[in-house]
Amino acid sequence: MSVLIKNGLVVTASGSYHADVFVEGEKIKAIGSDLAPSVKADEVIEAKGKYILPGAIDPHTHLAMPFMGTTSKDDFETGTTAAACGGTTTVVDFVLQNKGESLYDTVERKKGIADGKVAVDYSLHPAVLDPRPEVIAEVKKAAREYGTPSFKIFLFYDFRVDDYTMIRLLEETKKYGGLVQVHAENFDIVRRLNENFESAGTLSPLYHARAHAILAEEEAVDKAAKMVEFTGSRIYIVHLSSKEGMWKIKKARDRGIEMYAETCPQYLTLNEDRYEEPNWQGAKYVMSPPLRPKDSSDELWLGLKYGDVQTIGTDHCPFDFKGQKDMFGTDDYKKIPNGAPGIETMLMLMHSEGVVKGRISLEQMVAAVSTNTAKMFGLTSKGEVAAGKDADLVIFDPKQKFIVSRDKLHMNVDYTPWEGWELTGMPAAVYSRGRRVAEWDGKQMKFVGEVGAGRFVKRDPRDPA
Ligand code: URP
Ligand code: ZN
Ligand code: ZN
Repeated sequence: MSVLIKNGLVVTASGSYHADVFVEGEKIKAIGSDLAPSVKADEVIEAKGKYILPGAIDPHTHLAMPFMGTTSKDDFETGTTAAACGGTTTVVDFVLQNKGESLYDTVERKKGIADGKVAVDYSLHPAVLDPRPEVIAEVKKAAREYGTPSFKIFLFYDFRVDDYTMIRLLEETKKYGGLVQVHAENFDIVRRLNENFESAGTLSPLYHARAHAILAEEEAVDKAAKMVEFTGSRIYIVHLSSKEGMWKIKKARDRGIEMYAETCPQYLTLNEDRYEEPNWQGAKYVMSPPLRPKDSSDELWLGLKYGDVQTIGTDHCPFDFKGQKDMFGTDDYKKIPNGAPGIETMLMLMHSEGVVKGRISLEQMVAAVSTNTAKMFGLTSKGEVAAGKDADLVIFDPKQKFIVSRDKLHMNVDYTPWEGWELTGMPAAVYSRGRRVAEWDGKQMKFVGEVGAGRFVKRDPRDPA
């Protein structure tokens, strides 16, 4: 199968230009002007007025993940179908290690859940929860053989790790070209605030946000920076939520500490007033870290623009509002499963709220949703519209309007945090390794791919220093 996409604006992280893109089989074969006479294409698509983007890469999803007494609602089939419809052609999902499990078994267990159900390509980050010496020693194999060179640690939740584990993982990843990713919130600050709110009887969803104070994020980011300084390694902060946390990262980077940050559409576009929505609807936004005041969103946009934040992930961890968020009662925010849906809406929100509103350029968007992410996580064949790369492409119509509504999305969850938002710019067609997987049908995105056609992608470690 071959496809010629004509006259689109090819967008890369460093610039944009009008060209034709020729896809043969799974790869981008050629890019140039007026390719029609020199290639034989099974399908020709006119893309005048449209952008040709690399498929978005979501480095932070929790599909079919057991968590806080329940399981995140999207499985690999519904989650990656929704991703495809949003223009995301690769997801990197988290798998939480079980007690006693090797990293190999951890990764294989989730591959067993995913394989055959995946509509776009995927990879996995093992999260280290049981850091036995043999698990730390397995970092080398995970980075070089399993194709999973990134390792998540949590400084929060019951399964958080201690500083020694962080140090050992930083040392091992430095040796073998891996990357530690960290959920940066200080557990004991949140714990003490939880106790205070418990005593005061203030237990509505708003107090989830108050308990997960910005100070807890700042402290954990600072600690991570110190550990990187101590080991000479590098680290990636997941789901950065606050301007204060970002300033800590910036300060560390200015001192030559290799620290990277990911933020999420929810921290850029939603704020803490959401927790006060009537009828306990604030529970929809109970996630960790929580939504922050608007000045944090404004600064995070600036961070993306000026390079202090490198990537966007969704932290897609969906729980139904009815049946899951409320399954342990509505009388205490601590019982609410933490997480929110977003796997389908990343690219459209980043374009409409970011590019259209002038907060970031088109090229900066492409860098943050695809190119930087591919480089950060060793997805060597992805993240760029360039000859030789996988034909993971989005033909994007920058003028197409879409009113976000749960009914028009494909995620298997009963709400979206952006219900009713009017967005500008939607994918016209989405390709995963040269196969069309989603298209605009005039009213909404339609999945036209094949469940099971997505593959596990082995990622490359960075060349060790
Ligand atoms: O609230 C969140 N973010 N839930 C998912 C787990 C995590 O911390 O990333
Ligand atoms: Zn987290
Ligand atoms: Zn997460």
